[in-house]
Amino acid sequence: MLVVSVAALLVGCGSTNQAARSTLDPPTGGFNLISVAHQVGLPVAATLAAIPADNPQTPDKVALGAKLFFDRRLSLDGTVACGSCHNPARAFSDGRTASVGVKGRVGQRNAPTILNTLYSKTLFWDGRATTLEEQAVLPILNPSEMGQANLDAAAAAIANDGEYRSAFQKVFGRPLNGPDLARAIASYERSEIAFASPFDESANGNARAISDSARRGWALFSTKARCNSCHAVEDTTPDRTFFTDQSFHNIGVGIDRHNVVTLACEAQARFNTRNVLAIDRAAIQTDMSALGSFLVTKQPADIATFKTPSLRNVLVTAPYFHDGSARTLWDVVDHYNKGGMNNPWLDEKIRPLGLSETEIDDLVAFLASLTSAQFREQGAKALAVQREIARASRPERDNARAFGPKPTRPDPALACAPKT
Ligand code: HEC
Ligand code: HEC
Repeated sequence: MLVVSVAALLVGCGSTNQAARSTLDPPTGGFNLISVAHQVGLPVAATLAAIPADNPQTPDKVALGAKLFFDRRLSLDGTVACGSCHNPARAFSDGRTASVGVKGRVGQRNAPTILNTLYSKTLFWDGRATTLEEQAVLPILNPSEMGQANLDAAAAAIANDGEYRSAFQKVFGRPLNGPDLARAIASYERSEIAFASPFDESANGNARAISDSARRGWALFSTKARCNSCHAVEDTTPDRTFFTDQSFHNIGVGIDRHNVVTLACEAQARFNTRNVLAIDRAAIQTDMSALGSFLVTKQPADIATFKTPSLRNVLVTAPYFHDGSARTLWDVVDHYNKGGMNNPWLDEKIRPLGLSETEIDDLVAFLASLTSAQFREQGAKALAVQREIARASRPERDNARAFGPKPTRPDPALACAPKT
């Protein structure tokens, strides 16, 4: 009974129309009633709870949203769609260090996946949006992403397409408009759910679904490697579903490449705003990006803190971290093993781990086991590529620090010049 109602709510877009020339190819073999309902590991109650009452899922709305998500016409010059940076073939990421928008403009941040974002309490690396509806508007308006002057301009760009006009009328019972455009996209995103990984099979009782190495990695995850202290709903109970605490931490990524004290002072003086559009521009287009959720809260304790991402399908979404600075999962684990990068706001949970090479390989094998069935092929390729890169170069490896003592944090002296 429950399964039926989940299917009814989530309905995917197995029958998306042939892509028009202005659109990218939507995912093939996308979700349909059966594949969504039957994914091993799918959290039924949380999924039902993630559908907002004021924007229920319907098959027509999801199909409309899918079409919009892959439509380049929504951008200023008709070159960039949501799907350009959230490419289904790469588990809805773009493989770049930082994303490239209209007119070749390069942003500051790495594109996260949109898979399973229906469960996220906040969106973006710094949490500056709280709903998918609210989120969808920002890339359309960001000059380094889709570059539209306002949401109406995006709606106007498709307003003479008769198919869209009748689809909006049918789905929302009123003429095509900007807010409904965002609602349809959000609804499509909520249909992109990905569980059914070898790890889920294994948790479901099929012990042979993952390797011994991945099993050892999962054991390390909640013990010696301490990953569960952030990549779990609560650090006392193993989390086999979400792999995130939905919270923000400074783990020292990029902290050595920016003078965050100067940036924070500048942000406080020049930019004391809660205007989400202004924050969006600072995050995507300026060095202040390195300040993380400080941009949102203006609290010194949040300097260079970023949202703990889920780890599902992470093998397919390289490079890693908010700035795309880690090329492989080995680089990520090396970063944690040496205790991150020390700085005044480094999370207390980050410390040298003393992991051996075998233990590092085991953690990578575990992370690889979180690849959903639909990305199995891409995952196998990505693992081979990353293994080659890691064999040749491990820039984050630092055994002296990994096996050394926890260093003391420098004082968080945030002494800004007085405002004049
Ligand atoms: C030019 C590339 C680009 C385009 C186009 C783009 N995005 Fe993104 N997207 C990103 C980047 C980069 C981030 C991370 C930005 C940040 O956190 O500051 C992001 C973040 C997101 C997130 C938050 C994910 C999370 O886990 O917090 C969602 C959802 C999302 N985008 C959906 C969309 C939608 C919907 C569109 C189209 C309306 C779109 N994106 C267009 C690059 C892009
Ligand atoms: C103190 C909290 C914390 C701990 C402990 C922690 N993480 Fe993270 N993790 C984060 C945050 C926050 C980010 C994003 C940081 C950024 O981009 O600046 C992250 C990012 C990642 C990423 C990159 C994901 C992506 O999509 O780019 C991977 C992989 C990862 N962590 C795995 C691990 C593993 C494995 C461990 C244990 C060895 C671990 N984490 C321990 C908080 C933590």
